[in-house]
Amino acid sequence: MVPVRKPAGEEVQVTIASIQAERFDLCKPIGTELRGVQLSRLTSGEIQEVKDLVAERGVLFFRDQEMTLAEQVEVGRQLGELHTHPAASAPEGFPEVLVIHTDEKSRRTAGEGWHSDVSCDERPPALSMLRIETTPPVGGDTVFASMYTAYESLSEPFQQFLQQLSAVHSGAIYHDLYRGRTGDRQFPESVHPVVRTHPGSGKKALYVNSGFTRRIVGLSAQESSALLKLLFDHIAYLVKGQVRFHWEPNSVALWDNRCVQHHASWDYFPETRHGYRVTTLGERPFL
Ligand code: SIN
Repeated sequence: MVPVRKPAGEEVQVTIASIQAERFDLCKPIGTELRGVQLSRLTSGEIQEVKDLVAERGVLFFRDQEMTLAEQVEVGRQLGELHTHPAASAPEGFPEVLVIHTDEKSRRTAGEGWHSDVSCDERPPALSMLRIETTPPVGGDTVFASMYTAYESLSEPFQQFLQQLSAVHSGAIYHDLYRGRTGDRQFPESVHPVVRTHPGSGKKALYVNSGFTRRIVGLSAQESSALLKLLFDHIAYLVKGQVRFHWEPNSVALWDNRCVQHHASWDYFPETRHGYRVTTLGERPFL
């Protein structure tokens, strides 16, 4: 019998519309676990409150979310218009579902590196909802980083400088990630502001990531790579803006790609980790 693990952090009783939930903020800038909530049973008003909370907290965690794939897609639809991944193959009948699967035959795992999902798209994802069904005996955590904190912890003159810039985000990375299966397919490439404003919270967030961002527009190659290295290191090492989530079977993480990056940890080879992600379409990023 696995003992129920009480998350660290202050317990606050909150009302999400008509339902009572226990809210645990896992650390100050990012990450909240909500207990007593079944996502597949929320009304549209309650879903809106969840969306408001994730815009503020960056990522929400839920335990024991029993749901079928169809129910997960339905929750996704309530969260927003669904996004279809440009590179991955989806399970039969569920074109908007991304399978997250790693086992002893895997040569790579999805999301091992700091990134914001599919930021190469012209309208990159807003929310991603990942449910892990099979967890390895140990490990397989995901780390999330607040891009509000990443932006706010820079000096004011540097923030001003970054606000003038935009960057190229390229999907060419999928040729490496899905080696042998992408042929000569073309993947999206988009230009986005380096700093974006979250349309829900109104807060500014840093919006470059080492997964997709290739260069800063208008800078020399040397300036661009030096600046991107500085920003990628800042994001990776800013521990005060990060939260680490340990999955149990049927845990769900719901994150907002507009203000959060994440990094999966593949520390469980050759064990199996398996789950499903649905993702909503965001707006075109703006400053
Ligand atoms: C991803 O969506 O990038 C995968 C994250 C994970 O498997 O923890």
